[in-house]
Amino acid sequence: MNPKPRVLVARRAPAEVLERLAAHFEVDAVAGDVPLTPAELRERLQGKAGAFITGTERIDGALLDACPELRVVATMSVGFNHIDVPACSAHGVLATNTPDVLTETTADFGFALLMATARRMAEGERLLRDGGWKSWSWDFLAGSDIHGATLGILGMGRIGQAIARRGRFGFGMSVIYHNRSRLPADTEAELGARYMSKDELLREADHLVLVLPYSAAAHHSIAAPELALMKPGATLVNIARGGIVDENALAEALRAGRLAAAGLDVFEGEPQVNPVLLTLPNVVLTPHIASATMKTRLAMAGLAADNLIAALTGGTPPTALNPEVLSR
Ligand code: DGY
Repeated sequence: MNPKPRVLVARRAPAEVLERLAAHFEVDAVAGDVPLTPAELRERLQGKAGAFITGTERIDGALLDACPELRVVATMSVGFNHIDVPACSAHGVLATNTPDVLTETTADFGFALLMATARRMAEGERLLRDGGWKSWSWDFLAGSDIHGATLGILGMGRIGQAIARRGRFGFGMSVIYHNRSRLPADTEAELGARYMSKDELLREADHLVLVLPYSAAAHHSIAAPELALMKPGATLVNIARGGIVDENALAEALRAGRLAAAGLDVFEGEPQVNPVLLTLPNVVLTPHIASATMKTRLAMAGLAADNLIAALTGGTPPTALNPEVLSR
């Protein structure tokens, strides 16, 4: 009998997922929550046919050169900017991610962050806990309305569309968007969303939510010139990737009161946060938890496992990023 293929689970994973993997593979599972260093990852991947990873494990050409037995990399994330997919294809390695299962959960969070930011909830909570609530005054912690406002969405994929639905049908917002490619007319009509150039979007949005995928081309898509185009007093929310926003430029726009507030779930140097942002009252900071409900995280882990199992047992992985590798 052939020995079971060996796989690495690079981060602590749900017990039921480890059990499923163990039925098919010899599993080397990292138990802790501290990411492996690149050298440790390379070392632990020796002799492994598959890797179950998360957004914190970087897979690039050099790593693939050093791990010639690797055939599948399954990330438990929809974002895959930590995987060099062309390098995977060149090495004959299948890469998979976990789209769809997190769409609604992530959109819920994006909307919650928008509301917390525009309505100054975190600032109010901090003030109350610190004993700063002394009396009522007419403009005490006055923020800006969500209902009826113009919601701008940069990046109109699945999550962007789910946020658009919340804004349009839940809060009567006017929805405008920019995306690399325009949505089909019937989708635009269903969402009540108007397409416009990025500059127009920046000028018109009362609240701008960033949901675009990160790539080198998208690096600092929102920097000082873009922030200068935004409406005075607008709100910015980033649930995409930290590198999309120039954090120093954002901090300056917030400090100067050019933007009313920002809500950030993602950061350039995660888990480190730009120290200037930490000092500003008008920014809500959360630790990259947009997809973090128990149900959704289990679904993401389950889908990553489905991909790994299918890819290494002759099946069809449900969400492959480079499926052409399978037909070689
Ligand atoms: C994703 O799935 O890409 C989320 O950002 C969690 O990593």
